[in-house]
Amino acid sequence: MTILEAIDARHSVRAYLDKPIDPETRRRLDEFLAGCNQESGLNIFIRYDDPDGFDSRLAHYGSFRNVRNYIVLSGKKSDDFDYLCGYFGEKIVLFAQQLGLNTCWAALTFNKKKVRELIPAGETLCMVIALGYGETQGVNRKSKSAQDVADGGADQPWFGRGIEAALKAPTAVNQQKFLFSLKDGSPYVRVKGLGAYAKVDLGIVACHFEAASGKKVLH
Ligand SMILES: Cc1cc2nc3c(=O)[nH]c(=O)nc-3n(C[C@H](O)[C@H](O)[C@H](O)COP(=O)(O)O)c2cc1C
Repeated sequence: MTILEAIDARHSVRAYLDKPIDPETRRRLDEFLAGCNQESGLNIFIRYDDPDGFDSRLAHYGSFRNVRNYIVLSGKKSDDFDYLCGYFGEKIVLFAQQLGLNTCWAALTFNKKKVRELIPAGETLCMVIALGYGETQGVNRKSKSAQDVADGGADQPWFGRGIEAALKAPTAVNQQKFLFSLKDGSPYVRVKGLGAYAKVDLGIVACHFEAASGKKVLH
């Protein structure tokens, strides 16, 4: 599966099968994660076979079921912390999709108390991403249009491809509060309006835009 196919195939999945992630898939994920950590300076790690992270009333209320693995986005706080967590978290999400896994970002509906205990002193927990073999592949949802999230760039085919992929990206409560424009010929993204976790969303949509357009996104 190519990365563009992964962007198309990815939907949030909240209910998982009992099937454990096999050793070869774990090895490839861990190797990919190590590369992300090296590049970003973050401390992203995966908890395998650990149902505690989603063992809470809130997680069940958020309709999560049988989450046995999850990605923890953490690291030293910086001005770019939220953006970096979004950007590298989504890189891992798309890689996981290519490996036949499913995911769902979770800022609220997980067991924050238990996950916080895993974070080293001096580091901050951003959020987590549920990971595993889904009961289903998830469903399509509503999306804003290109006109809602792009200002300029209409004459550049690569810009259009980037926007199309950005609109397929997950955002908190599907808010899609981002706006792409051009700055000295480069794509630039910023938050449009107000929304919780909008900076994390920016990193996520930038990851999709870059994968489809081949251009580095400024923010
Ligand atoms: C930053 C962020 C935080 C999220 N937090 C939660 C959450 O706490 N609980 C939940 O059930 N889904 C959460 N989601 C999943 C979104 O609701 C979902 O991505 C969105 O509705 C779009 O659907 P899709 O991922 O299938 O495209 C979150 C997504 C993002 C990007």
